[in-house]
Amino acid sequence: MITPRATHGDSSWFVHDRFGMFVHWGLYALPARHEWVRSRELINDADYQVYFDHFNPARYDPKEWARLAREAGMRYVVLTSKHHEGFCLWDSDYTDYKVTRTPYGRDLIAPFVEAFRGEGLRVGFYYSVIDWRHPDFTIDAFHPLRDQPNVGELNEGRDMRRYAEYVRNQVRELLTGFGRIDVLWCDFSYPGHEYRGLPGKGRVDWESEKLVAMIRELQPDILLNNRLDLPDAADFVTPEQVQPAGWPRVDGEHVVWETCQTFSGSWGYHRDESTWKSPGQLIRMLVNTVACGGNLLMNVGPTALGSLDQRAIDALIIYRDWMKLHSESIYGCTQSDFTPPQDCRLTQNGQNLYVHILAWPFRYLLFPGMADKVAFAQFLHDGSEVQMDDITDVDLEALGLEPGTLALSLPVVKPDVVVPVIRLHLR
Ligand code: GLC
Repeated sequence: MITPRATHGDSSWFVHDRFGMFVHWGLYALPARHEWVRSRELINDADYQVYFDHFNPARYDPKEWARLAREAGMRYVVLTSKHHEGFCLWDSDYTDYKVTRTPYGRDLIAPFVEAFRGEGLRVGFYYSVIDWRHPDFTIDAFHPLRDQPNVGELNEGRDMRRYAEYVRNQVRELLTGFGRIDVLWCDFSYPGHEYRGLPGKGRVDWESEKLVAMIRELQPDILLNNRLDLPDAADFVTPEQVQPAGWPRVDGEHVVWETCQTFSGSWGYHRDESTWKSPGQLIRMLVNTVACGGNLLMNVGPTALGSLDQRAIDALIIYRDWMKLHSESIYGCTQSDFTPPQDCRLTQNGQNLYVHILAWPFRYLLFPGMADKVAFAQFLHDGSEVQMDDITDVDLEALGLEPGTLALSLPVVKPDVVVPVIRLHLR
């Protein structure tokens, strides 16, 4: 089986745990129409201020979020400490654009960290190196002021050197003020992305080398993602809103990876978005990911009140109900070297091979070349035996199959779980 390239930080827990929760929360929960609303609608500071002035998530109860995450089978969490809008969820010494200056008036991160740790989850921070509010951050392709006629003038005096220092100061706060942090998820670089003469941004702008050196010094075990435009410094890659069909590689080498996904088409709370994924899609995304040796970071976007939308809770419950019976085929598992039968995905942990049946066949599940390899087969949801059929080579031939094919005899009716799983005990 594949062993991915070694990481700088400690990835041993990460490749075991496989399933985490992403939390996108900020002022954008109030407009409730995508976390990029400032950029998309070209909203200036004055007009965006209304959300700051009314930020008061009185129902914030991170213990409840943490409980739902743990029950869903998630083992770690990554919280947006600051998204592109620049608003900080903690009491940073380096800005007034932070939660403690809103009507809510209290730090959100310490109680969050405590709640999730209390449920046994590891904690990571997302930090946006993009900042549409900071006065030194130069206007570029995504900035809400990009189409101002006097953009050249507006950029005068802005100083990315000072901004890079601000980033280091803030990341230092995050990595020293909240105990052990397991993941730092920085977002994002776009060095070639020019817009009307405004250059993109990357490692030079963030001073990524200095930033990474500081991160490694403060939290040597931390896992750092790959969005600082410094590929060799990254511990894991982050395909977003796509489902890899194989194990991702960098320079030909398999790497630790995590895909981040949403329940619907937005990261921040989006009231009117309706492309919510079906239960089958949700479970298949998790299964597909682990079957390709990766992790799934599934996002929730809490509301302006600090609660989780019922649609998000329902989606978490889909994971809860499935994971309660099937987590064994996720935790500690990875891509298998065996070839899956039609419409199936395989994960493996040592001598246990897990067959996830995405479309229910009638009535054999066929494994070419595996006739002698399996000692016993049983469903994960109830432990019941799945009989290995004594199918003769003559019969196999009549079915168009090769000798040596293992045939599992399935019940006609699919078990009442979203994706049934059979555990094969390999000889
Ligand atoms: C992005 C987006 C964003 C989201 C992130 C999650 O690059 O800018 O809003 O936070 O991906 O992966």
